[in-house]
Amino acid sequence: MGTPVTSPFVPTRPPLRQPRRGDAPGGTAQPGGPRHSRNVSRVSDAVLRMDDMTVVREGATLVSGINWTIAEGDRWVVLGPNGAGKTTLLSVAASRQFPTSGRVEILGGLLGRTNIFDLRARIGLSSATLADALPADETVLDVVRTAAWSVIGRGHESYDAFDTDRAIDLLAQLGCASLAGRRFGTLSEGERKRVQIARSLMTDPELLLLDEPAAGLDLGAREALLRRLGRLAVDPAGPVLVMVSHHVEEIPLGVTHALLLRGGRIVAAGPVATTLTAPVLSACFGIPLEVGVVHGRYSARLAFPPTVMRAAQPA
Ligand SMILES: Nc1ncnc2c1ncn2[C@@H]1O[C@H](COP(=O)(O)OP(=O)(O)OP(=O)(O)O)[C@@H](O)[C@H]1O
Ligand SMILES: [Mg+2]
Repeated sequence: MGTPVTSPFVPTRPPLRQPRRGDAPGGTAQPGGPRHSRNVSRVSDAVLRMDDMTVVREGATLVSGINWTIAEGDRWVVLGPNGAGKTTLLSVAASRQFPTSGRVEILGGLLGRTNIFDLRARIGLSSATLADALPADETVLDVVRTAAWSVIGRGHESYDAFDTDRAIDLLAQLGCASLAGRRFGTLSEGERKRVQIARSLMTDPELLLLDEPAAGLDLGAREALLRRLGRLAVDPAGPVLVMVSHHVEEIPLGVTHALLLRGGRIVAAGPVATTLTAPVLSACFGIPLEVGVVHGRYSARLAFPPTVMRAAQPA
């Protein structure tokens, strides 16, 4: 029998099983693979480090000259206009894309010199691209469970009670245990987001990467998700978190750092208090913005010039 999972948001680390064939659709992994060792010899203590990282695809420079270091315990938000390169940055951090030039170190291993399937088992990822790849006719329980083998789509791999208990527990923590038997393709946008986040936590990752986790959620669902992410962010045993967002209103409590991108380049990166300021956000989005913080939650809106403000006021 498996061990029941009764812990807070991030249960005790489960036995990670190393996939034999990575994310091959159809799940070709075999049970009994060696457990992943976290005692690999590390290049450095950084959780993620990019040095002069550039990605060029089909002649277009997606991101360039990226220098970014994430330390243990950090919780980052990545912001920037459409096309700024946020998803590209995240997919390199997830070892799903390789840079054209520069050096990338993830969880102590150098990208290009480390077994990426070992690496991917230690990284939780939730993104629209991954969601599109998940089979629509698969049950929600299997969408979450298959992450234990780092496969997309149920194949011949087997799951024990521990896997099932953990998947159900994570679904419950994301408020969607009742969806376990539903087909993934029948879920609403918000339900899919939450199921994906449960999937991304299945292997108890050391690094959790969420690309626009709150996009498509209604106000209640967004706030519920932010509460859950906030709990995860403040949990010292939780994974290092990097989330991409379009809105400062979607930054959960507990986020410690912000990286702002524009045109594939970093505008600013550092602690949230000194980075998420009106001048920096205005430079990033190219419009004059006012930034507010109430009870640790951020908001931003267009800063109207005084003449417009006077005109808008009732006589
Ligand atoms: N294979 C490709 N060839 C050429 N350009 C690409 C390719 N992939 C992405 N791009 C371009 O790179 C830029 C960055 O894309 P990316 O998806 O990283 O932006 P983003 O910041 O995530 O945008 P959004 O906020 O809209 O999700 C975009 O202008 C995009 O059109
Ligand atoms: Mg994107």
